[in-house]
Amino acid sequence: MTDVKRIVLSSDHAAIELRQKIADHIKALGFEPVDIGPTTPESTHYPKHGEAAANLVAKGEADLGIVLCGTGQGIMMAANKVKGIRCGVCSETFSAKMIRAHNNANMLSIGARVTGQDLAIEIVDAFLTTEFEGGRHGTRVDMITEIEA
Ligand code: RB5
Repeated sequence: MTDVKRIVLSSDHAAIELRQKIADHIKALGFEPVDIGPTTPESTHYPKHGEAAANLVAKGEADLGIVLCGTGQGIMMAANKVKGIRCGVCSETFSAKMIRAHNNANMLSIGARVTGQDLAIEIVDAFLTTEFEGGRHGTRVDMITEIEA
C-alpha cells in the first residue's frame, strides 16, 4: 500500500503502552504515525478518542487509523459513528487482512486487554500491508456507504 503514509493512533487509558509500541513500530516501517494520545494514565472515555481519530481519517488528514481500548470494542463503535469510517476489531491477522481486502476498512481497532503486544503488531502489519480488492467487494462497500445517506 504505497500511498498510505499517515496513520492516526488513539486509545483510552487501557491501551497507552500498546499504542506507543505500535506508533514506534510503524514509524520504523516508514509510516508517519500521528499519535493523538492520551499520554497520561488517568481513566478517560474511549468515545471521544475514537471520534477524534475517526474525524482525522474522515477529513483525509490521515490515510488510515488505529484505535485501541481494553477490548477494542467501545472505541470501534465510537469510530464507526463518524461518516465514512469503516472500523473493525481484530484479534488475529486473517481478519486484519480481510477488513482491508474485502471491506476497505479505513480504521483498525485492537483490544489491549485481549491481544498480546506481539500479536497486535502482527495484526497492524497485516492491516497496513493489505490492499482493497475492489470489484464485487466495492459494490458491497458502496452499499454500506449508502446506509449512511
Ligand atoms: C475501560 O475500562 C474499558 O471499558 C474500555 O477500555 C473498553 O474496553 C471499552 O470498550
